[in-house]
Amino acid sequence: MDQLSMKKQAAQAALKYVKADTIVGVGSGSTVNCFIDALGSMKGQIKGAVAASKESERRLRELGIDVFDANEVSGLDVYIDGADEITPQGYMIKGGGAALTREKIVSSLAKKFICIVDKSKQVDVLGSTFALPVEVIPMARSYVARQLVALGGSPEYREGVVTDNGNIILDVYNFKIIEPLKMEHTINNIAGVVTNGIFAQRFANVTIVGTPEGAKIIE
Ligand code: 5RP
Repeated sequence: MDQLSMKKQAAQAALKYVKADTIVGVGSGSTVNCFIDALGSMKGQIKGAVAASKESERRLRELGIDVFDANEVSGLDVYIDGADEITPQGYMIKGGGAALTREKIVSSLAKKFICIVDKSKQVDVLGSTFALPVEVIPMARSYVARQLVALGGSPEYREGVVTDNGNIILDVYNFKIIEPLKMEHTINNIAGVVTNGIFAQRFANVTIVGTPEGAKIIE
């Protein structure tokens, strides 16, 4: 089975976590695009969505789903998003699509984070297969890069990428993240860092993995 079919499987299985008459938190990326397509079948039953990226917002509106600003809602029942890596404990690296800050904000509003991935995203230790994205205020780029080197990483500037918030992304290679919560806080404390792509404080409560044998749910 190809990767896209596994993403579609996970996305479809996530629909059972969406309750009628609620506003749904929606992340970003290709797996989420599959989820948005699937959510189209429920559009008459939900109140709408809060989107973590301009692209997701555009796709939701295209399907006729109302999109609310994060400031208009006091909380969300569920937030559905993909990940670049996820551990058995539900700790994630996110930000491959550079939407990490908005994803952290919208997911923080939700009672439950439902992570939808294909099986290639499962790892035991974060940083095993994917560089850690860090969103940085442009004037702090070199300073933050030096601090990341001091922490043992190899940061690289993601050329040509400007986030939805007008900032830049540093991708940190050679980082084995043994203590995700501690590392998330340490990096977020560097002046000039907007946020980093470790989702440990806001970990996934449910992981849905698309596999050739069907969608597996880990609660
Ligand atoms: C975007 C993200 C995405 O969830 C992550 O990159 C996974 O993307 P995809 O579903 O395309 O594999 O964090 O910032």
